[in-house]
Amino acid sequence: MLPRSTSPNGSQSRGSSRFKRLWTYLKPYWRLQALTFAVMVILTGLALALPAAIQYMIDTLIPGLVQAQGQQVDLVPVFRFGVFLLCIYLLNLLFAWWRDSLVAHVGAEIIKDIRVQLFSHLQRLPLSFHGRHRIGELMSRLLSDVGRLQDLLTVTLLMLFTNLLMLAGIVAYLLHTNWMLTLVAVVPVPLTVYSTGRFGGRLNRLMTQVQQRMADLSARLQETLLGIRTVKSFGREAHESRRVEQALTELNPLLVKASVTSSLGVNVAQFINMIGPVVVLAWGVSLVAGGGMKLGELIAFYILLMYLYSPISGLAQTHIQVTSAMASADRIFEYLDIEPEIAEAASPVKIDTIAGEICLEDVGFTYPRSGFRLEGLSLTVSPRETIALVGPSGSGKTTVLNLIMRFLDPHAGSVQLDHLDLRALSTCLLRRQIALVDQDPFVFHASAYDNIAYGHPEARRDEVLRAARAANIHEFIVGLPQGYETVVGERGTTLSGGERQRLCLARALVGDPAVLLLDEATSALDSVSEQLIQDSLSQILSGKTSIIVAHRLATIQHVDRIVVMEAGRIVDEGGHSELLGRCALYRELAQHQMLREQYSGVRSKHSPLLIRQSAKPLP
Ligand SMILES: Nc1ncnc2c1ncn2[C@@H]1O[C@H](COP(=O)(O)OP(=O)(O)O)[C@@H](O)[C@H]1O
Ligand SMILES: [Mg+2]
Repeated sequence: MLPRSTSPNGSQSRGSSRFKRLWTYLKPYWRLQALTFAVMVILTGLALALPAAIQYMIDTLIPGLVQAQGQQVDLVPVFRFGVFLLCIYLLNLLFAWWRDSLVAHVGAEIIKDIRVQLFSHLQRLPLSFHGRHRIGELMSRLLSDVGRLQDLLTVTLLMLFTNLLMLAGIVAYLLHTNWMLTLVAVVPVPLTVYSTGRFGGRLNRLMTQVQQRMADLSARLQETLLGIRTVKSFGREAHESRRVEQALTELNPLLVKASVTSSLGVNVAQFINMIGPVVVLAWGVSLVAGGGMKLGELIAFYILLMYLYSPISGLAQTHIQVTSAMASADRIFEYLDIEPEIAEAASPVKIDTIAGEICLEDVGFTYPRSGFRLEGLSLTVSPRETIALVGPSGSGKTTVLNLIMRFLDPHAGSVQLDHLDLRALSTCLLRRQIALVDQDPFVFHASAYDNIAYGHPEARRDEVLRAARAANIHEFIVGLPQGYETVVGERGTTLSGGERQRLCLARALVGDPAVLLLDEATSALDSVSEQLIQDSLSQILSGKTSIIVAHRLATIQHVDRIVVMEAGRIVDEGGHSELLGRCALYRELAQHQMLREQYSGVRSKHSPLLIRQSAKPLP
């Protein structure tokens, strides 16, 4: 991870490259952006036309009418002037509307591009990255930080140009009218810049703190709500409420401070901005009285002067907005800069048919964070062979499967499919050939059908149903209110652990993968349902290379070979009775299992009530 705060020098040197990167998002829309700018130029012109019109009214129009005193006042020029003013306002309205819709359009497109890019990138990042980052934090970067970039690339950027243009226009007009007064008027400008910068900087720091706290808070809220079952079952609702309340209480002074700073900044700026006009007014009045200046000139001058300070504060604000948006840009680029550890082969090897031989050759792998390691691990599974991987919890079984799925790359040795190093294959192709079912598989908020067909949306309906039957979930789904169209998963029909596992087993079977990896995939099934799956499963497995991580003896007894793992190494392999005879660890695991088998045997024969009773120690 990049450090959050960088030295001023560091951020300076990265600045230009950041602008370059930001420009890449803007580039596709530069035509629209240029059009928007043109519209803004017109709007600036319209804004300047107003004081000019007033000057004309006082110095030319009214005296012209006054000269004609005694006779009927000619209303035609007055009417024409009124229409002219109205036109200016109307044009202003139209162009402002055009500008805003352009800005909104470009902004929405840019924000979409960045979010799509960031989201796709996040999906490509390894599971280890997702294990390290809280979902709330990822969401906050995807949504709120990207939003701040949108402002920078549209409104702020355009305002910068408009303000510069406005400033140039106003100063030219002022100098043209009365250069001495102009010099007096700009004396407070440095003060304006200074105070805006001061207050803006403070506000920015406060808002950054607020943003960080909000990200923390949203992560905490999300965690608590995700774990609501645990919270409730331990009766910790009040505790969690207190924690949230405390976080909110800590946030409050920051919010108040930010609010006060912001309004104080505005008021101080307003005060400073009045100094120039007041001086100009006093001096100007004496000039007008002395005949050195026309009244209309003075009033136009005064109005323009009021205009002058808004682009100046605007420019000072731009600086602050840019720095604050840059913090967001950094937070986004920080993620975009993380290379997916699993690099895609530049020119992946093409294969048409896959026999399904899996081979781990002298594989070495270490988790950097826990230090757990696999060392010199070699294992070959022939095509259509079924092996069981057994071992105590934490011995590295899931890690082996993750290596075969290429969720991880080995640090030494190689993992091969049909004698091809996985790194030479496209991960997409690989994962269509190898299906994995986890112990805790994920069910999407979607119909049962879509959940099963998830990996193969192109599959025919009968293929999907066949998979469901093989996983012994078909009957269950048909019994749901809307059958296969019933929405399951989060906020849908709640499935039991066993039902979820069977659904996900069906999902894995749909594409008819050459290799099937089951990681305690039937652990949540009771032995009756497992027995039911077992028959159809063994039929399916006979055509595939399969690696089954399981604890139940019933599951592993029928496999071709049992591989025993301990602490990241393979300690033995062979048939069930063979291993019982010579491998102490296997004997231990098996004995432990046999007790459980006997126990679950009781379960299957008796009613649930009896089980509960028999589970209690007899009096
Ligand atoms: N992402 C990870 N980062 C660090 N350590 C991990 C990670 N995943 C698993 N481990 C550690 O690796 C060891 C083996 O884990 P695992 O392969 O899941 O074992 P098993 O599936 O046999 O129970 C465990 O000690 C576990 O704590
Ligand atoms: Mg495991």
